[in-house]
Amino acid sequence: MTRLQRANNVADLRLMARRRLPRPIFDYIDGGADDEVSLRRNADAFTDYELIPDVLNDVSDIRTETSIFGQPSRWPLMLSPTGLTRMFHGHAELAVAHAAARHGLLYSLSTMGTTRLEDLAQAFGGPKVFQIYIFKDRGLTAEFVARCREAGFHGLALTVDTPVAGNRERDRVSGLSLPPKLTLRSMLSFALHPSWSLPALTGSKFDLANVSHKIDALASGPMSLFDYIGAQFDRSVGWRDVEWLAREWNAPLSIKGVMTPEDARRSIDSGATGVMISNHGGRQLDGAPAPVDQIAAVRDAVGDAPDVICDGGIRRGSDVVKALALGATACSIGRPYLYGLAAGGEPGVDRLLTLLHEEFVRTLTLAGVNDIAALSARHVRRRANGA
Ligand code: FNR
Repeated sequence: MTRLQRANNVADLRLMARRRLPRPIFDYIDGGADDEVSLRRNADAFTDYELIPDVLNDVSDIRTETSIFGQPSRWPLMLSPTGLTRMFHGHAELAVAHAAARHGLLYSLSTMGTTRLEDLAQAFGGPKVFQIYIFKDRGLTAEFVARCREAGFHGLALTVDTPVAGNRERDRVSGLSLPPKLTLRSMLSFALHPSWSLPALTGSKFDLANVSHKIDALASGPMSLFDYIGAQFDRSVGWRDVEWLAREWNAPLSIKGVMTPEDARRSIDSGATGVMISNHGGRQLDGAPAPVDQIAAVRDAVGDAPDVICDGGIRRGSDVVKALALGATACSIGRPYLYGLAAGGEPGVDRLLTLLHEEFVRTLTLAGVNDIAALSARHVRRRANGA
């Protein structure tokens, strides 16, 4: 039995990741904003829902195929965008994308990714989404739209919950800087983790690959690429900008970070084809509700057609079954695949996706549901507080 095969669930992979990564890097993945209330609630909220099984229904064949962002998906899960992935493993985004493709799932690349979107598209034929921001320099956003179209990306996810960076206190305590700097303290911490790829942090390999062409424009000034991109976040972004982006892109577009039925409706009216209910994995507004608790109202508000993706807190295949029964098209995961990546590179992501898929199919089988299209509100019940 290999080391990764000894992982039975997301929690095991998380522990493996914790052992392999220097503490500041692990905390960067694992942590949330302020008191991490939303971070904890995102996952805990799933336990408030009970699954109500049907019995004596033929479950010898379970149908799980669906479509997300207009692309086929083997089952209703996709991989959320996460920045700076090379910090967690030298094989970075490509390892995650390849594992996703092998499992028939959509992969999303972050604007803050460490692999150029063109390189990802060239190396990877699977369905892919690019996570975009509306920057102060709308020209930079328009440039991303053109590059994504040219490279063959299938959808865009516009992140709207980040007008400023959330307050991640674990990163302050650990002294993590972005990009990580080689100080005496960090070298000591890194030296204790020889299985983790220190070279990935040094030299030209570690950068924000999708904006690194801007470095020429910065060469004369003291600003780093990280400062440059930080200064691009625009607090004045509004619905007219969403309308503009939808027109410009004219293909599947989800608004990532929507939490309310009103904003979900407004997203669709502004030209989006879907919403990702998300609080950024509890990394932005602490105290925001858990995405799973918002699904039913959001689905009610947007009707049947748009993608409603529940993003945040999914740690079991059964969580996906609950989200679907509440009205989601699919779920999306961030930390779980990063734990897998840190624990063992591409095979680690593979292991994670295998485990979640097994859990998902086993849950459907035990719930007596042989087709995800048959899942409905009667399969799930929210327990009253303390019940
Ligand atoms: C993220 N997330 C994120 N979202 C985004 O729109 N752009 C980004 O660059 C990032 N970067 C990022 C880095 C890391 C380390 C994490 C953990 C998360 C948020 C991500 O897309 C997703 O919303 C959450 O991770 C979902 O919650 P879970 O699955 O981690 O609980």
